[in-house]
Amino acid sequence: MLTHPAFTIWLARIEHALDSVLPEAERTPTRLHAAMRHAVLSGGKRLRPLLVYAAGAIHHADEQALDAGAVAVELIHAYSLVHDDLPAMDDDALRRGIPTVHIAFDEATAILAGDALQALAFECLARAPAGADVRVKLLHTLAVAAGSAGMCGGQALDLEATGQQQPISALQRMHRAKTGALIQGSVRIGALIGGASPDNLTQLDAYANALGLAFQIRDDLLDIEGNSAQLGKTAGKDAAQNKSTFPSVLGITASRQQLDVLAAEMQSALSGSANG
Ligand code: IPE
Ligand code: IPE
Ligand code: MG
Ligand code: MG
Ligand code: MG
Repeated sequence: MLTHPAFTIWLARIEHALDSVLPEAERTPTRLHAAMRHAVLSGGKRLRPLLVYAAGAIHHADEQALDAGAVAVELIHAYSLVHDDLPAMDDDALRRGIPTVHIAFDEATAILAGDALQALAFECLARAPAGADVRVKLLHTLAVAAGSAGMCGGQALDLEATGQQQPISALQRMHRAKTGALIQGSVRIGALIGGASPDNLTQLDAYANALGLAFQIRDDLLDIEGNSAQLGKTAGKDAAQNKSTFPSVLGITASRQQLDVLAAEMQSALSGSANG
């Protein structure tokens, strides 16, 4: 999936930008800052920053102008993973091949590191080199994507659904919120920085809507089909915790078919958006 030649450049940009924006581990409070760096500078696919750069590139945005947006979405994502792994949520000990933040540090530090990463995301976006009108739109987009109508709301639905057989419509709603909202927000942030027209935004929203759902279905499948060494996180957790997932409700074959349907939706949404 991650094969476009520009990705190598964007991946280097995002690593550098994240490293520069995170407080040094030696700065007080050192335990909190070390935990924030542990959560963010631990690898990961960097899908959401790549989407910011790609959506910006479609609109010929300057890469430097996209850095703040790319950093902001990855910081929100990293915070969501720190909290997702907590004992009160998925209770995971392994993330990106290393111990989760509450294991490497402690639970209180993990909660605070997540909180501080979220605040830092908005701080970065507020400083984005864009006009004040664009910055307000960026901040609003990220707030909606991260909040109770987006990622947090989806995580709440995920917890409520645990142990229950959900109808497929409820699963879709949950996946679109917990994972799709930030993916959609990332595409939108890149496009807004690039000065996309309302029509472009609508088209890209349709693309990202399909991508966000597909990404979580793929994550659900990988939890069954992958192993912990490949995934860098404990495989088989969803079944062990009785999570409501696409494969648990639809089965593996039908879940894969859903991915094909969503790939076609992404293709058709994108045809034409590069011309706007
Ligand atoms: C994991 O996200 C959590 C989901 C939303 C599915 P990623 O698969 O993007 O995790 P990293 O960033 O590569 O570690
Ligand atoms: C997490 O979904 C989605 C988030 C918003 C963090 P999962 O719980 O399936 O993610 P993993 O499998 O732990 O990465
Ligand atoms: Mg979870
Ligand atoms: Mg999890
Ligand atoms: Mg998962």
